Amino acid sequence: MPALDTHTIIAVIGAGAMGSGIAQVAAQAGHRVYLHDQREGAAQNGRDSIARQLQRRVDKGKMQQQDLDATIGRIQPVARLDDVADAGLVIEAIIEDLDIKRQLLANLEELCAGDTILATNTSSISVTALGAEMNKPERLVGMHFFNPAPLMALVEVVMGLATSKTVAGTVHATATAWGKKPVYATSTPGFIVNRVARPFYAESLRLLQEQATDAATLDAIIREAGQFRMGAFELTDLIGHDVNYAVTNSVFNSYYQDPRFLPSLIQKELVEAGRLGRKNGQGFYAYGEDAEKPEP
Ligand code: NAI
Repeated sequence: MPALDTHTIIAVIGAGAMGSGIAQVAAQAGHRVYLHDQREGAAQNGRDSIARQLQRRVDKGKMQQQDLDATIGRIQPVARLDDVADAGLVIEAIIEDLDIKRQLLANLEELCAGDTILATNTSSISVTALGAEMNKPERLVGMHFFNPAPLMALVEVVMGLATSKTVAGTVHATATAWGKKPVYATSTPGFIVNRVARPFYAESLRLLQEQATDAATLDAIIREAGQFRMGAFELTDLIGHDVNYAVTNSVFNSYYQDPRFLPSLIQKELVEAGRLGRKNGQGFYAYGEDAEKPEP
């Protein structure tokens, strides 16, 4: 299946951590990108944050100024959802909530052309369930990037029961053209990586709850002895506790509340306290102003 060519406009809905990163990836690959968020100013902030990340690369001599200018010039923040109507691929990266994502997909089906591919960056919600109320569920596919999207190579191309093989193949080829390493996955709860990751987070949280030791020591042990890139606490601070807690709940409920996937009260407390991690400066750790994203 051929990749979408660079004349295809990409729309990204949701300009948070993931949406901004995905917009950057698509723009760096040569596409025009519409970036939309329902929060006023968020799409412009997303574009500014991409510019800051890329400026650091320019300052270090890893990127030419003209490439930065061209990449940023291809990203267009748009205020209204209607403004994405002529995109050939729309990737949604909004809040991890089935009903809200379904509503967005219904709106997109109304305003986009019949052959526009609709992709979801959901971490855990069933692509089959997301597509169930669509007129053309065959055009919905999971395109699950990892955080931070410009740095992480893996993309899960998630097929719901109705997803067309052509649509999945096109998204797979497009991810490859964008320099990613896509894998096909079915729409099982948590897909592949988030499923495997659940016990990693859950056992780390249990150790913390049992006061085996503190978060920083556990992270250091996992990093230094386990040779992981990050321990569970620094990683979930990066993901965002609101997102990670929603994913844990989604996997837990999809598995008929199997206790293996029981969400931790520590996570719940962090979310209730508004300590969402790096994105708002406080999670298991406190972060300074510069902590928004690791540099690509
Ligand atoms: P985030 O909270 O940083 O950003 C979400 C953005 O979506 C916000 O700016 C919000 O204003 C906007 N939004 C919410 N509802 C909207 C709507 N109806 N229309 C337009 N914009 C809307 O969240 P994040 O971390 O970027 O996650 C987004 C999605 O990506 C979720 O589905 C999440 O599960 C998934 N994901 C998250 C990863 C992570 O590590 N944070 C990794 C991979 C996937």
